[in-house]
Amino acid sequence: MPQTSLAPINAATRLCAVLGSPIRHSASPAMHNAAFAALGLNWRYLAFEVDPKNLRAAIAGARAMNFAGLNLTVPHKLLAVDMVDELDASAKTWGAVNTIKFENGRAIGFNTDADAIVTSLHEDLKVELRGAKVLLLGAGGAGRTAALKFAAENVAELFLVNRTASKAEEIAAEIKKQFPSIKVSVGYPKAEVDLILNATSLGLKPEDSSPLNEKQFSLKQTRAVYDMIYQPAETKLLAAAKAAGCKTANGIGMLVHQGATAFELWTGQSAPVAVMRRAVEGSVYGV
Ligand code: ATR
Repeated sequence: MPQTSLAPINAATRLCAVLGSPIRHSASPAMHNAAFAALGLNWRYLAFEVDPKNLRAAIAGARAMNFAGLNLTVPHKLLAVDMVDELDASAKTWGAVNTIKFENGRAIGFNTDADAIVTSLHEDLKVELRGAKVLLLGAGGAGRTAALKFAAENVAELFLVNRTASKAEEIAAEIKKQFPSIKVSVGYPKAEVDLILNATSLGLKPEDSSPLNEKQFSLKQTRAVYDMIYQPAETKLLAAAKAAGCKTANGIGMLVHQGATAFELWTGQSAPVAVMRRAVEGSVYGV
């Protein structure tokens, strides 16, 4: 049985935190504190509501106070790229920082989101991206990272759909430049795909419609559907996909894996992934 109680806070306690706005509903403190407890580490993870105009000062403050690291969430991931001393290759590639590690007084920016998508797709849906045909819904920050990562993973074909088509066109152009061998187009596919991934925010609110236009593309034409949204646990898209017989998963696995990689960067220890997943599910769904 892993330990579940945290070591008492004292002068040796190491600190990490997530900075965001809004931040009140973040599951990251529950996830990381459960992991610290499981490994018997005298560490704590906090959450701070930080306005973008104070982000630089907040990062500098955490560094000055010898924090071990930070996570950054909406709306800070792009802004932080210019606020660290050094960018790891992951942050350079994806143009966004979701994790900072403080080392010898320097702030190093990482991106652990892109790998987490691939790990979660593999673990939760048994989808291998290499050679897969993928319909990606959404061309915001999350959609862009997913699209570029899918191209880097050598998908066979990528279809990009977004309410604002010009943003999908921009991503397609970027993929054609960076990954000329990948087939990418904007619009719904004409034939079957292996995966539909929702990277839009449609589904977060109960009144939201599904991000998939089923008149344009039927759920019968895919094997698997992944929704990056994890609250609610089952969006309209996932419910319809289940009813159509698809394999489905929500974004919990992605949240857990981006956190697990951050945990390993900070502590140098293997992350207790199962403990982290249980803690997230407890925090988000109250189970
Ligand atoms: P994130 O960083 O989470 O990706 P974002 O960059 O604001 O957030 O992107 C939100 C995505 O959800 C975009 O693809 C957005 O479509 P637009 O590019 O057209 O704005 C999509 N989205 C948000 N609300 C939507 C709605 N009501 N209908 C369709 N798509 C929507």
